[in-house]
Amino acid sequence: MHEIHHLNGSKPEQYAQLAQQARALLSGEHDRIANAANLSALVYHALPDLNWVGFYFFDGRELVVGPFQGKPACVRIGLDRGVCGVAARTRSTQRVADVAAFPDHIYCDGDSRSELVVPLIARGDSGDERLLGVFDLDSPRLDRFDADDQRGLEAIARIWLDACA
Ligand code: SME
Repeated sequence: MHEIHHLNGSKPEQYAQLAQQARALLSGEHDRIANAANLSALVYHALPDLNWVGFYFFDGRELVVGPFQGKPACVRIGLDRGVCGVAARTRSTQRVADVAAFPDHIYCDGDSRSELVVPLIARGDSGDERLLGVFDLDSPRLDRFDADDQRGLEAIARIWLDACA
């Protein structure tokens, strides 16, 4: 069992500590499901004000729910749907301050008020890029995620990608 160490200091400092814990947790393990499960649990319990943290994997056609923490979620999301679909399609992080104002936001949990979705892009040796899925975080608080959160959670997603490479 892994302890989750309390984070302290400024937000960037807290994310540096979280990244260190994430690297330790995933170290030596390449299995995508195992790493996604443990990383979701770590982030869900380490950060405040989250009601859903987890992975959607791209199956070549659409996004399919993977390991997560939170209430049961929508299983399949087309790339043309929701915040997750936009992140996957545009391959850029989506930071949504108010999900009610986002056209076509998909409510899996009615408590969600803001959302951050980081695309998971694997880079091959030849420089090719492949969409593996998205890392999705929901908060019951409006405007929960700022630029520091985005940077910090993109770094966490990168740790998962590096561990699974
Ligand atoms: N809200 C997401 C769907 C996934 S759940 O929140 C877990 C979306 O609009 O893509």
